Amino acid sequence: MSASDPFLNTYARFPLELVRGEGNRVLDAQGRWYLDACAGIAVMALGHRHPKVHAAILDQLDRIWHTSNLFHLAPQQRLAGLLNETFGGAQVFFTNSGAEANECAVKAARKHHWRKGDPRPEFLVLEHAFHGRTMMCLAMTPKAPYQEGYAPLPGEVRALRPEDVPAAVSGRTAAVFVEPVQGEGGCRPVENLHAIREACDRHGALLVYDEIQCGLGRSGELRHDPEPDMRTFSKALGGGLPLGACLVSPRMGDPFKPGDHGSTFGGNPVSCAAGLATLQTILEDDLTSHNVRMGARLRAALARPGVEITGKGLILGAHLGRSAEPVVTAMRERGVIVCGAGKEAVRFVPPFLFGEAEVDEAAAAFHAAVEATA
Ligand SMILES: Cc1ncc(COP(=O)(O)O)c(C=O)c1O
Repeated sequence: MSASDPFLNTYARFPLELVRGEGNRVLDAQGRWYLDACAGIAVMALGHRHPKVHAAILDQLDRIWHTSNLFHLAPQQRLAGLLNETFGGAQVFFTNSGAEANECAVKAARKHHWRKGDPRPEFLVLEHAFHGRTMMCLAMTPKAPYQEGYAPLPGEVRALRPEDVPAAVSGRTAAVFVEPVQGEGGCRPVENLHAIREACDRHGALLVYDEIQCGLGRSGELRHDPEPDMRTFSKALGGGLPLGACLVSPRMGDPFKPGDHGSTFGGNPVSCAAGLATLQTILEDDLTSHNVRMGARLRAALARPGVEITGKGLILGAHLGRSAEPVVTAMRERGVIVCGAGKEAVRFVPPFLFGEAEVDEAAAAFHAAVEATA
């Protein structure tokens, strides 16, 4: 960092400038192609410049770019309709990002209980959760390095081990937030969702699935079971353009009336057009099942003594028991882009279009990098 650095000092960037993406690969400014097993951190579900997404973006660019949510917009309505159909009649609020989708879920939970004359202060989250960087999402992200220096954090939030959640839910609990497969926290599936659901039902608390990273088929499950009251999406939802969504299920019901919540840019029509083409392709091509098959292949191919592989579908973590950073770097030097999950895991969240050859290429680079950095 220097005094003339134009950026605030928030990212330790890789020493790499990417200038182009095509399918499962990205090109750097020096003319070298890389296999992209990171996909912009679980964003580019259909890879880079997918022809259907590309066409949808261009078509919408030629129509209208922004109006405001005071008007009806066809791409928004079509995407909301498809989400509604896919997720059991859920109603949708569009945002620009994942954190905003979670903020919407927090507000919807508060309003839901307030409307019933039973306002509730408490939100429960899991240890190692990652829910975003806005102040409330940060309060729900119980990791010292992220929270340090930002006190006081808003809200009343308790972070618990998954097995301790059912007994902790009470009549004070507004909602429990869970990533069905934790992303940043190490690609770990949460195994007791049914017990958490039952405890929420017993105490009238809401269950929210943060599917921002693991959702829309990445984990190999399109609808994580059991049904939550709310789901939040982002990342893959916009096909590479900024978009998020908070879905409220019919079992909870719409807690809002006009004016209760809003966003200038949320649900931008170009983003929604890209998102619609993305979700249609995921559904029509049954990429969720593809992710189950490729996830199983990748999991088997990554196996090696001393390394624990966690996750589901195409959200996998290779836990090394030592810093993952040298391995991430060594893989990049071997032409494969990945990122870390926490300090000691290498995260694999590739496009849903990874086939057998790409899976094997990523795994080979992983083994070579682990050996080169041992
Ligand atoms: C599970 C989860 N929730 C929330 C977020 C925050 O999303 P955004 O960075 O779009 O605000 C992320 C981002 O990594 C995430 O993985």
